[in-house]
Parts: sequence; structure tokens; C-alpha cells
Amino acid sequence: MTVEASPTIGQFDADRAPAFARYLAAGGGRPGIVGIVEHGDERGRELGFPTANLAIDDTVARDGVWAANVILESGQSYAAAVSIGRRTTFYGRQGVRLLEAHLLGFSGDLYGRQIRVDLWHLIRLQRRFTDAGALVEQIALDVADARAWAVKHGVTGSIATSA
Ligand SMILES: Cc1cc2nc3c(=O)[nH]c(=O)nc-3n(C[C@H](O)[C@H](O)[C@H](O)COP(=O)(O)O)c2cc1C
Repeated sequence: MTVEASPTIGQFDADRAPAFARYLAAGGGRPGIVGIVEHGDERGRELGFPTANLAIDDTVARDGVWAANVILESGQSYAAAVSIGRRTTFYGRQGVRLLEAHLLGFSGDLYGRQIRVDLWHLIRLQRRFTDAGALVEQIALDVADARAWAVKHGVTGSIATSA
């Protein structure tokens, strides 16, 4: 896992990801988290919100739930709801710190692929929920918030914003 401090438009095909090119040109380009997608516990799929997972160490980003943008190797760009934390609902404080990205409107297998995650906006802090049902209800709200953020900021060009 690496953090790229100075992303450039040239890393991405602007024709395939025009919304992201616009975002960078408009002064975006905050540190992007780049890593290879790892296998999770597959629970996300069962919960109805599959995630692409990156292992990240403690120095990278802040724990929380974020509205974000995810770029695939193809240059395709997706709005996403991203969780960074230890999944305390399931693992208490002993959980491994993970970045988990739920890509809006994406279905497919990203294991072993490189992705780049740009965190836009902190939606909320991590919480420990009493049960999986309560967590799922909150994730649905987080996803709606992430979609609203993407729409409000006009990054819907090549970015899928449907569920
Ligand atoms: C948008 C979003 C928000 C999340 N918020 C929390 C949270 O507040 N607390 C928590 O314990 N887990 C949170 N999670 C993580 C879920 O517990 C995790 O995705 C689920 O356990 C599946 O993990 P797995 O893919 O490793 O199986 C969140 C996940 C997503 C996608």
C-alpha cells in the first residue's frame, strides 16, 4: 500500500474518467490511497454491501466513514462510501485496521487489482453497533450520503451514482 502525495491527471486516462480529471483540475488531488484489493471476510456481500478492501497502517488517513472516489486500473471512476476502521461491531478493538470501499453502481471482482481511493468528505465517525442489522441500516444511510455528495459536487460524469 502506498500513498501518492501528488497525483497527476496523466496517471489516468482523462477521456475515460473525465469527471475525475475535472476534479483534479479544479484543485482536488489530495493524497490518494493506492493499494491492491485484498480478500475480506466476505461478510460485506452477505450484508448487502460488498466492499473492496485495502489493508492500511495506522499512519494513513483517519478512521471514519467517507464519501470518496475510487479509480480502477481501467481508468473507470466510481463514487463510493468508504469505511476506515477496525470493524469493532464484529471484532471489538482487536480488529485489523482496514479501508473498505463500497463502490456505487459497481458489480464485479476486484481482488488482486490496484485501486486508488480519494477521500472527499467525512460523513461520520466509526461506531460499534449492537448487531449487524443496525449496522446495515446505518450503511444504507451512509451510501445515500455518499451519493448525494457526489451529485452535489457534480462528479457524476463517468461516475456511477446509482446503487
Ligand atoms: C459505508 C460503511 C460504513 C461502515 N461503518 C462501520 C461502523 O461504523 N462500524 C463497524 O464496526 N463497521 C463498519 N463498517 C464495516 C463493516 O463491518 C464491514 O464492511 C463488514 O463487516 C464486512 O467486512 P468484510 O468485507 O471484511 O467481510 C462499515 C462498512 C461500510 C461499507
